[in-house]
Amino acid sequence: MWTLIRYFLFLFPAEFTHGLAKFFIRFTYTLSPVKKTYPFTLSGTENWLGCLNPIGLAAGFDKNAEILEALAHFGFGYAEIGTVTPLPQPGNELPRLFRDAAKKNVFNRMGFNNLGAALVSERVRRKRALLPEGFKVGINLGKNKSTPDDQAASDYAKVAAAFIDCADYFVINVSSPNTPGLRALQTPEALMPIVKAVQQEVEKGGRRTPILVKLAPEIEGMQLQAIIRALESSKIDGLVLTNTLGGDYIYRERTYTGGYSGQILSSISRTRLKEVRGMTALPILSVGGISSVEEAKERFALGAKGIQIYTGWIFEGPFFIRKLAKKLR
Ligand SMILES: Cc1cc2nc3c(=O)[nH]c(=O)nc-3n(C[C@H](O)[C@H](O)[C@H](O)COP(=O)(O)O)c2cc1C
Repeated sequence: MWTLIRYFLFLFPAEFTHGLAKFFIRFTYTLSPVKKTYPFTLSGTENWLGCLNPIGLAAGFDKNAEILEALAHFGFGYAEIGTVTPLPQPGNELPRLFRDAAKKNVFNRMGFNNLGAALVSERVRRKRALLPEGFKVGINLGKNKSTPDDQAASDYAKVAAAFIDCADYFVINVSSPNTPGLRALQTPEALMPIVKAVQQEVEKGGRRTPILVKLAPEIEGMQLQAIIRALESSKIDGLVLTNTLGGDYIYRERTYTGGYSGQILSSISRTRLKEVRGMTALPILSVGGISSVEEAKERFALGAKGIQIYTGWIFEGPFFIRKLAKKLR
């Protein structure tokens, strides 16, 4: 049935289908008389924030918290909203989202399109009342495109400040390939001021909100080791591994630069999890190409505290997360 529906949905441009999918997710939630949730823990994941379950929606799917209230009922135990920037911004011009159904990959060059910290935080605050007990909300922090790199720390701090009373965890995102210069912030020197600025904001708010850092899959070896050491000494709370794989995509004879997600990312994301697990005891949320029960089990077996899914939900269908939750449970 899903294969048939998917066939029709995939006839439309990817971004249009994404909007349609969000509409149906909210519609289904509103209509459904029974609001089911899927609570469970796995050995080793119990202390990850006390989440309803350790399967999360990865950043970028619900950038503006449009479907936040519905996610628990599709099987998720937590969700990462954003990336949110201090001011609203439109992102890159269309087309900016492409899918390769045969290979189960997505290519995007969205560029942090979002409604901005004031509006999205207001929405999260309002929707928290609708969330089931234990469903956690992470906020993925970013900088505006127009903010120079040497002022990046203040942008990350501003977004954290806006969400200080309604976020269960923060993620410092320095790994999107679609904001010029952003990935260059993945050095100890550039990262430390950002981490410090966000930590100060959390302290100022009298909170202990965990702060994680999300890295690109290309960061490996010595470079990765240096970042991990610096993050450990800065008392960060965890890592999100990984963001999309940077690359090019040719469409109608034009070459676009952006990031790949889905199957193409699966083995590299798994490899990074193993590599970083060998370097540190910091909690890791594993993301990238998880589209089967076996792959999810593998990530937990490799020491992930939680997993996150984006592209797998698109290709495996609306009930994939529920199925995953039932099987893992
Ligand atoms: C269309 C699209 C938009 C995304 N936007 C963001 C974003 O705003 N911030 C972020 O940290 N990651 C973003 N991501 C990356 C995902 O959170 C995730 O790290 C990546 O897609 C790998 O997981 P997957 O293979 O399950 O999709 C985006 C991914 C896609 C496909």
